[in-house]
Amino acid sequence: MHDADQILAACDELARLSETDTGIMRRYLTPVHLDANARVAQWMHEAGMAVHQDAAGNQWGRYEGLEADAPALVIGSHLDTVPDAGRYDGILGVMLAIGVVQRLQRSGRRLPCAIEVVAFGDEEGTRFGSTLLGSRAVAGTWEPEWWALTDPTGICLEQAFEAAGLVPGRIDTARRESSQIVGYLEAHIEQGPVLEDRDLALGVVTAIAGARRARITLTGCAGHAGTTPFDLRRDALCGASEAVLAIEALARASGAVATVGEMNVAPGAVNVIPGDVSFSLDVRAQEDAVRDRTVAAIVESLERICTARELTMHWEDTHSASAVACADWLQDCVSRAVTQVQGDEALHLFSGAGHDAMAMASLTDVGMLFIRCGGGVSHHPDESVRADDVAMALDAFEIAVIRAARQAGLPA
Ligand code: HGY
Ligand code: MN
Ligand code: MN
Repeated sequence: MHDADQILAACDELARLSETDTGIMRRYLTPVHLDANARVAQWMHEAGMAVHQDAAGNQWGRYEGLEADAPALVIGSHLDTVPDAGRYDGILGVMLAIGVVQRLQRSGRRLPCAIEVVAFGDEEGTRFGSTLLGSRAVAGTWEPEWWALTDPTGICLEQAFEAAGLVPGRIDTARRESSQIVGYLEAHIEQGPVLEDRDLALGVVTAIAGARRARITLTGCAGHAGTTPFDLRRDALCGASEAVLAIEALARASGAVATVGEMNVAPGAVNVIPGDVSFSLDVRAQEDAVRDRTVAAIVESLERICTARELTMHWEDTHSASAVACADWLQDCVSRAVTQVQGDEALHLFSGAGHDAMAMASLTDVGMLFIRCGGGVSHHPDESVRADDVAMALDAFEIAVIRAARQAGLPA
């Protein structure tokens, strides 16, 4: 089978490892996540890599360089998904990375540095609310308060670690030393419409948007839907509804993007005025200052809404990641590879989606290769890629990895 066909078949196989009978959902440290780690470990082993799962539940494979124990160029992406996900977000990048090493192994080629493939376990952050937990453990930016984060069933992160056979007290052993890593390269679907609009298969990422997430709870007073006149109501859902539209308007005005993706209404009965509403907030922008100004304006607006409606607000920050620039030398490796494979001048574009590269940027230089996805659709079952684009992506990723390994492996 052609490498690209193998990669697409592997994405199909991993898509069947889901928490749900219909659709794809594979969240951090669930049994199906561990099953995916085990299957990916087999592919890594078959490609000539030594494999291990680290203390944060990330799956690793190492392909030695010319010298044993050489520093490594890390390549990879994530295996976890959002609910009702597509089958390529993250997963394609892991399989492309394994595909590159498989080609090196077949040709018996060794590079000036080692190549390590990583399959991160929690890029989406959809189980515990905070995100990049796996890559932040690797980068050494783990925060102790995360152990108390809970999933929708009330299981805290510490319990989830123990249930997955991981030892929370060993989390620091997942941390990598920057002296052992020469750079990080990630291939990922664009998750946007730009490449398709320009009729290009591949693109070079210049920077990744900074993001902030929060969980907001508005509290009013539950009451009888039939007997409570409007002027005596403190309806938390009406307040939240006004808040959601204010959030949209403020983000539009500031050039950021903001999303309320989750909302819980309590007590949640047809004949009871909602007393409590909690919802998620995700705000992103190319510059951190724009992101932070937008969050500040949202806080102010929600406080005004709560005052007017006699509601109280509890705001919990759950995630913050700064905008990250891809290193020039890695952009150059990717750009030359894309031009070599695609022919015309490589398009450089910015990523509105977050990636594990944001966490890895605090450890080492990062670079990203984007692959066209159908209609720019992602975080949706209709996510799609073209087999010929995947073939080109594998060729370009192989060239970029070899170029980066050579450049990084040169004596300083
Ligand atoms: O949310 C994101 O941007 C990424 O897909 N996790
Ligand atoms: Mn992703
Ligand atoms: Mn995603």
